[in-house]
Amino acid sequence: MINLKPVVFSLFAASALLATGCNNTEMAPENTAANTGPKTEMPARIITKDDKFTYANYDEVRVTHIDLNLDVNFDSKVLDGIATIKFERVKPEADMLVLDTKNLLIKSVRLFEGGTAQSENNYLMGQDHPVLGAPLTIQLNENTDTVLISYRTSPEAEGLQWLSPSQTAGKKKPYLFSQAQALNARTMAPLQDTPAVRLTYSATLRVPEGLRPLMSASQGEIDENGEYHFDMPQPIPSYLIAIAVGDIKFKAINDHIGVYAEDYILDAAAEEFSETPLMEEANTRLYGPYRWGRYDLIVLPPSFPYGGMENPRLSFMTPTLIAGDKSLTNVVAHELAHSWSGNLVTNSSWRDAWLNEGFTSYVENRVMEELYGEERAVMEQALDMEGLKRALSEAKRPELTHLKLPADMEHPDDAFTLVSYIKGANFLFFLEDRFGRDKFDPFLKAWFNDNAFKAVTTEDFITYLHENLHKDNPEALSRAELDAWVYGPGLPETARKPESDAFKDVTRLLGTWLAGDSNGDEMFDASKDWSTHEWLHMLNSLDDFGDIDVENLKVLDATYSFTGTQNAETAFAWYMQAIKGGYDEAYPALEEFLMTVGRGKFIYRLYGALKDSGREDLQFWAEDVYEVARPGYHPIAQRRIDDIFKAE
Ligand code: BES
Ligand code: ZN
Repeated sequence: MINLKPVVFSLFAASALLATGCNNTEMAPENTAANTGPKTEMPARIITKDDKFTYANYDEVRVTHIDLNLDVNFDSKVLDGIATIKFERVKPEADMLVLDTKNLLIKSVRLFEGGTAQSENNYLMGQDHPVLGAPLTIQLNENTDTVLISYRTSPEAEGLQWLSPSQTAGKKKPYLFSQAQALNARTMAPLQDTPAVRLTYSATLRVPEGLRPLMSASQGEIDENGEYHFDMPQPIPSYLIAIAVGDIKFKAINDHIGVYAEDYILDAAAEEFSETPLMEEANTRLYGPYRWGRYDLIVLPPSFPYGGMENPRLSFMTPTLIAGDKSLTNVVAHELAHSWSGNLVTNSSWRDAWLNEGFTSYVENRVMEELYGEERAVMEQALDMEGLKRALSEAKRPELTHLKLPADMEHPDDAFTLVSYIKGANFLFFLEDRFGRDKFDPFLKAWFNDNAFKAVTTEDFITYLHENLHKDNPEALSRAELDAWVYGPGLPETARKPESDAFKDVTRLLGTWLAGDSNGDEMFDASKDWSTHEWLHMLNSLDDFGDIDVENLKVLDATYSFTGTQNAETAFAWYMQAIKGGYDEAYPALEEFLMTVGRGKFIYRLYGALKDSGREDLQFWAEDVYEVARPGYHPIAQRRIDDIFKAE
């Protein structure tokens, strides 16, 4: 792609640098917390404790390994067993280990030095906080290097969903899956639950006969006692520890990529995701080797609250991606891309979430372009931009539209908006356009390589950008422009404006029909060649033509049969319009959708729109539907939708 920067821009950039009193060699960030911490032998980024969503004293003691030895008990819906934790002292004098826990029952704590038992039960459970849980403070002896914690999870653990056999597709066996990001690893085990700390892990699991456990680790080996053993020898942040247990089958895609799923969807999933090897090749070509060995995908039950989750070696995926035409596989490109951005180079706190999600959304789009060409990539950019503009207009406060998020965020959920994803990706598009792909691609590859297996802050990135790209190309970018992206609100004017000719056609055809200038035949004929992307653009564009007339929705549905469509993205976009336009004929199908799909991206906004529809009958209807659907939703989704109905 060509460098889009016009010449006059560099003049402006140079004067802007002068105007803000910066010179070209000073790109040091304003917020230098991570860079000005006390200088000791240990890496500076670990020394400064800047994650406020953890109780862990990771500036003093750092957990290096956790071994989990657990019974997976479906009757009582608990994980029950022993966590053995190894750690190092960052400060030699440290005499306490503070771990995060949430809803855990701690039965005993034993201390060890080099395999020799020391004292027992010298610990304190702190007060419970609704978001953070409770700190577990363990008094260490001199030279204690290992603690052994006997514990049990709660059936209410937010990170675990226990499904009864009737809630699965096969109907015969129960299912368990975890979701640790962002703060729920602490509901699964006591640990330092911050992305700033990396640890290796191993696990021994006992599961009921006929069930197969999987983890974000080695594939799992069964021993003569029927126990399964897992190993993750590469250090990862706690939010990437993951487990799934169920009647799960496997189908290979190639020698190191495959799909796990319940039987009913296994073949369809392997077909839908058959291009994953090409994605891995493209990603590797652009940004360096895939470092995790195998890459498998597991298709979870429909209550999985996300599109995908990048658990290392084993991405967790929603079944709503199985559209039959590979139209939603950008989510695979996304989760795979996290193997570089996020899993290899990790945001050191959730304030820097864009370093995970923005980078990943950028890489995702580059990989989609490599595989399917610029047209599809630009369509996805344009759809994302439509979403970002809406998200920006709905932001609770302007600080939440900065890439560097404010220190007083209430919950990391606030960090995972389209700001981190799409504004983040667009900042990188902007840099790509300014420096040119010939320079920017190797730069990003080096960023992943130089920071592999580390936690990084926004300020680390700015410094690295200056040292490795900007210093030699100072005219490409001014400090003020960079600050506007990172520390400023909204979408900077320097953002790319993705323009898809195909989308322009869609908008034109829709516009002439809505204006009564055509009878719709032209749109109908053109639509025979439309991809899911064009349909989504069409449905989103309805908003741009003023209030939607229910008569138009009726004609659209009669012509194109949106209600009940099997493509979850199209269905969602259609039901949003149906709610807005008062197209009540869609409600039985919408009810079915809400009863069977638990993916947050869809159901949070659908419930929100119903609640805010201004129609009492719809509000009551939504509450009734939710009451029935709620037990089937994931605990994370339950909390989020409870909040929607509670809000004024
Ligand atoms: N890491 C996220 C999922 C996540 C976010 C879990 C916040 C917990 C807290 C994952 O990589 C993701 O971004 N999934 C997206 C798909 C993507 C294509 C935007 C999703 O779930 O929709
Ligand atoms: Zn992501």
